[in-house]
Amino acid sequence: ARPVILDVDTGIDDALALMLAGLSPALDVRAVTCVGGNVHLEQVVQNTLQVLELIGRRDIPVAAGARQPLLESPIDASYIHGSNGVADAVLPAASRQPEGVHAVELLRRTLQDADAPVTIIALAPLTNIALFVTMYPELLPRIERIVFMGGAVGAGNATASAEFNVWHDPEAAAIVLRSGVATTMYGLEAFYAVTCSAEQIAALGAAAPGSVASTVGTLLAHLAVVTENEERIAGVGAAAIGDAGTVCAVIDPDGLTLRRAQVEVALAPGITRGQTVVDLRTGLGAGGAETHEAAGNVDVVLAVRGESFSRLFLE
Ligand code: BDR
Ligand code: CA
Repeated sequence: ARPVILDVDTGIDDALALMLAGLSPALDVRAVTCVGGNVHLEQVVQNTLQVLELIGRRDIPVAAGARQPLLESPIDASYIHGSNGVADAVLPAASRQPEGVHAVELLRRTLQDADAPVTIIALAPLTNIALFVTMYPELLPRIERIVFMGGAVGAGNATASAEFNVWHDPEAAAIVLRSGVATTMYGLEAFYAVTCSAEQIAALGAAAPGSVASTVGTLLAHLAVVTENEERIAGVGAAAIGDAGTVCAVIDPDGLTLRRAQVEVALAPGITRGQTVVDLRTGLGAGGAETHEAAGNVDVVLAVRGESFSRLFLE
């Protein structure tokens, strides 16, 4: 199984991603690090522990990390995820505390102890990962790849131009993209393309109360309501599995259409702050500058096999 670390701001779709990763035989989840994002840090840690409790993975170490972005003030996304971040779903109580170390230290320990390079699946503002790459550059070769949910080739969601995770901490995203680590950007185009239908959500919801399936049903039903005007999600009453699609991308990279490109984060104040500018040019740019894939820093997901990822998730 592929060794991975998840960085999360649990969050409905982070919860779905944790369940998929923690239950998939293809992945060996070595640690989960938490960051403030969808909800405040304490709530993220609580939700993460409770989701892992639900799926019987009390063995995976969890640590709390950055409470707020490097520069910005935190603005949560409880308007999507509900006040407790998990759609007020009833989850089993956590039977343990998080590790007594900061997320950056858990990353260090996990990478140092690993017998092979580890893939980081980052599903939240990139604050923890930016702190880690800044503090421990000597450990970057221990990272196989960073696969992050964030950014967009086209339109944003938090703002017209920016996707939530990058918008929430643009400096952190810029630091990670400049780190030199192999990086895959699973942006909004992919994020909205992996969905469960209204019928599938209803069937999940009808499973035994308190089960993993019925919890998934509750979470997706909430998402379907709060995203009903999102035209990128096809199907009446459908919901995107969001962050969980990023886990699918690590389990089944054949399901991705990738393009190597230079990606920069717009950092200037104003309406483009937090936008990921993806250079898809192949000809000559201004002044005759070469603009080709070889110069790129990121493998950008342009499209996904939505149906097969959705099936993988449900299975
Ligand atoms: C991203 O922002 C969060 O609200 C979701 O959990 C996801 O990681 C989507 O823009
Ligand atoms: Ca998230």
